[in-house]
Amino acid sequence: MRIIVLGGDGFCGWASALRLSRKGHDVYIFDNLSRRKIDKELNASSLTPIKSIYQRIKVWNKINKKKIKFYKIDISKEILKLESLIKKIRPDTIVHFAEQRSAPYSMINLKTRNYTLSNNILTNNNILYLIAKLKRNIHLIHLGTMGVYGYDFSKFLLPEGYYKAKLFIKKNIINTKILHPANPGSIYHLTKAQDELLFQFYQKMYGLKITDLHQGVVWGTNTKETLLHPDLINRYDYDGDYGTVLNRFIMQAALNYPLTLHGSGNQVRPFININNTADCILLAAQNKKKFNEVKIFNQLTETFRLKNLAKKIQKLTNCKIMHHKNPRIENENNTLVAKPMGLIELGLKPIKLSDNLIKNELAVSKRYSFRADLNKIRAKSQWRI
Ligand SMILES: NC(=O)c1ccc[n+]([C@@H]2O[C@H](COP(=O)([O-])OP(=O)(O)OC[C@H]3O[C@@H](n4cnc5c(N)ncnc54)[C@H](O)[C@@H]3O)[C@@H](O)[C@H]2O)c1
Repeated sequence: MRIIVLGGDGFCGWASALRLSRKGHDVYIFDNLSRRKIDKELNASSLTPIKSIYQRIKVWNKINKKKIKFYKIDISKEILKLESLIKKIRPDTIVHFAEQRSAPYSMINLKTRNYTLSNNILTNNNILYLIAKLKRNIHLIHLGTMGVYGYDFSKFLLPEGYYKAKLFIKKNIINTKILHPANPGSIYHLTKAQDELLFQFYQKMYGLKITDLHQGVVWGTNTKETLLHPDLINRYDYDGDYGTVLNRFIMQAALNYPLTLHGSGNQVRPFININNTADCILLAAQNKKKFNEVKIFNQLTETFRLKNLAKKIQKLTNCKIMHHKNPRIENENNTLVAKPMGLIELGLKPIKLSDNLIKNELAVSKRYSFRADLNKIRAKSQWRI
């Protein structure tokens, strides 16, 4: 297949692009390198020494039969360039990672709120519009988040995107199917909820083939592919804005820094390893099933209460745990029961968090600990205005 990976220079995009390329697909990465620019803006950088996109691709193309091509393009702005590239490449599939993906960053101030809103909504609308306009049978695979459901609901198994519903209208009952009510907890999550409506609209109006992957918190660093050469190393965010919780805990434990638990730590979150992220993208791209609606899959492999996660790492490393005031406005005592039903059906083999995997990640953090800036560890962004 010819596959365009939007946002292929990022954490999930890079790992997935390499997996697709190694599996024999022709991969084209589109990225405006905005994530690297935000590193400069925040004066923070990946714990791992990631190479420039040009160097990464040069090395990959030397060691792999299939070559990856890179185009620097802003998907939210450069619509003419995007159109001509899609016409030239004629992709079968477009995988869309190209959004501002940090909830804390989206809440720093009005500027970051507006940037997140405009960047994320416009990247989606531009790509959907072009797929509809060019009338090509292109499968769009989008990375959404489990956060669109909100983390604050029942003890019953979370459905994948839709509920079977009975609508009570006066004395009549209408049996129907509805999108799970959106319940975003940050501007970032709100853009992903808005994305869902864009998908429903473009599917209904123009019959587009769309898969929306509601992904959990990703952890880990490297994949089989990024380990093939030091210059292919994946990004590792540990700072308070972009670092995701499990990777932050592991890095903190490796540096003997007390784990930063926000609030009570009773929050339950969904998780997935970066290798499984790449697996899911491949499985979604190869999905041959008929699409008569937007396909929504919950892309997680397990859930953890954050304080239990911290204790798990403490047991292995003897690190301290420190509670900090929660910068978010959220229910800290949520329940969440979720499984990757659809992806398992497509063939996903879940990777579960084990002591050995934690030890591997601790080793990565220790190896690059000299690059860490301890001042960047604490979360600074606040939900309160
Ligand atoms: N990392 C996680 O834990 C996680 C969890 C759930 C969902 N997701 C979703 O997965 C996707 C990828 O996440 P990630 O962690 O790899 O993020 P990332 O920030 O590392 O990567 C995103 C990439 O997209 C690029 N990009 C952003 N806006 C763009 C634009 N307008 N034009 C071109 N390129 C643009 C960035 O430069 C970056 O390389 C995001 O949509 C995110 O919401 C991530």
